[in-house]
Amino acid sequence: MSRRKRVAALISGRGSNMAALIEAARAADFPAEIALVLSNRPGAGGLETAAAAGVATAVVDHRAYPDRESFERAMQAELTRAAIDIVCLAGFMRLLSPWFVQCWEGRMLNIHPALLPAFKGLHTHERALAAGVRIHGCTVHLVTPGMDEGPILAQAALAVAPGENAEALGARVLALEHRLYPAALRRFIAPQTAQALQGDPIFAGL
Ligand code: GAR
Repeated sequence: MSRRKRVAALISGRGSNMAALIEAARAADFPAEIALVLSNRPGAGGLETAAAAGVATAVVDHRAYPDRESFERAMQAELTRAAIDIVCLAGFMRLLSPWFVQCWEGRMLNIHPALLPAFKGLHTHERALAAGVRIHGCTVHLVTPGMDEGPILAQAALAVAPGENAEALGARVLALEHRLYPAALRRFIAPQTAQALQGDPIFAGL
């Protein structure tokens, strides 16, 4: 197999998607290693999870920089230092400038807790329920300058249960995210090794 790609997971919080990527990358045939976990929040829970898994961590606290450009240049320096090939946004809650997005054009993925292009932005599960959709899910896409835009790589969908609240729906979608993100990353890097996901939900693009 060719050299494993060096992936950085960018997080802002608990990092459960990051943990799913780390877990998947334990497989000998996974085409990437999680070489760095980078957080913009010093207290992000995911930092401890990553360190416990033996993954290098870095913090670039956005509050320590006067503007977005200097914050992003500091992140870019960390990514360059770690010789990162691919960036996976995993609950990273800062908007990125066109400059940073262009640095990683075609090499930066995001996971979003809705079936894009529906429900961009925050509070996706509440909004999906309010809209009365019967199918909901999550999306892995390439990052382009527009928020939650960019070519869709893979999606996972489930049926909204009668009377289901946002918390329960969010938990079920999160479990789907943990399966979708590693599979989509694998397919993105090495399509020939793609593995079909099965079960009640619908997985597409894998
Ligand atoms: C995930 O549900 C992810 O899809 C979402 O934040 C959560 C992070 O959880 N991302 C976005 O809303 C980005 N627009 P995690 O830190 O446990 O992975």
